[in-house]
Amino acid sequence: MTDKTALVTGANKSIGYETARRLGKAGYRVWLGSRDRERGEAAAAELRQKGHDVRVLDIDVASDASVKAAALRVLQEDGRLDVLVNNAGILGGPVLAPSEEPVDVIKDVYEVNVFGPIRTTQAFLPLLKAAPRANVVMVSSGLGSLGGLTDPANEFYAINILGYNSSKTALNAATVAFSKELAAADIKVNSADPGYTATDFNGHSGYRTVEQAAEIIVRLATLDENGPTGGYFYDEGPLPW
Ligand SMILES: NC(=O)c1ccc[n+]([C@@H]2O[C@H](COP(=O)([O-])OP(=O)(O)OC[C@H]3O[C@@H](n4cnc5c(N)ncnc54)[C@H](OP(=O)(O)O)[C@@H]3O)[C@@H](O)[C@H]2O)c1
Repeated sequence: MTDKTALVTGANKSIGYETARRLGKAGYRVWLGSRDRERGEAAAAELRQKGHDVRVLDIDVASDASVKAAALRVLQEDGRLDVLVNNAGILGGPVLAPSEEPVDVIKDVYEVNVFGPIRTTQAFLPLLKAAPRANVVMVSSGLGSLGGLTDPANEFYAINILGYNSSKTALNAATVAFSKELAAADIKVNSADPGYTATDFNGHSGYRTVEQAAEIIVRLATLDENGPTGGYFYDEGPLPW
């Protein structure tokens, strides 16, 4: 067991829930981030039944006020945070050609997928710095890999979603930027690609399970001081940016 604390955003279901479960199993005190109190409480009740130490944290990553209030609560109750998993993410509206995707939809996607992890990381930074050392995981996607998307042999080459894909590319850039600044504070920041996973996100069309998806996220969330920072990883190793 450990007295370490972890926050997973968007943890009321799917990949975030499974990540919270795994961190709970590893002995972390888990803050289960949810933008909806009832959904969060239902998920937390399930995890507590399995014996995990879980508290619900109201957090809508698209809202400055919500993220600030969440950071204040964790400060008051724990005074520190050892692990931050920026998991909450959205696909946006129906998939359209880049020339047809409304800018307003793209802005909404960026608000959650890019500005969400940036504002959450910034707001929780004093808490991460208060831990002996800390890990931040940005839940990215293989669809954020420009190397992958420009390779005709890549299995996702034809998935050309302007807002979502570029939001994850931008998120990867945030990983690089934060990792450089925070290395001196012993805070590691890495991007994880959970792979194409059956969740509500894609109408359960993915071919991976949430257990498989959470594997790389949990691995990066629990790195020790010798682990990498500023990287972008799938289960099997580094991905091209
Ligand atoms: N599934 C895949 O194939 C796949 C592949 C690569 C990457 N990913 C990434 O993995 C992450 C999790 O995806 P998933 O498949 O588990 O998706 P999901 O089933 O749609 O779950 C997304 C979670 O994020 C929450 N969320 C959405 N907007 C939020 C906001 N503004 N503030 C706080 N929470 C918010 C949702 O809450 P509600 O329940 O309230 O909506 C839900 O808990 C995402 O970042 C996604 O981009 C997924």
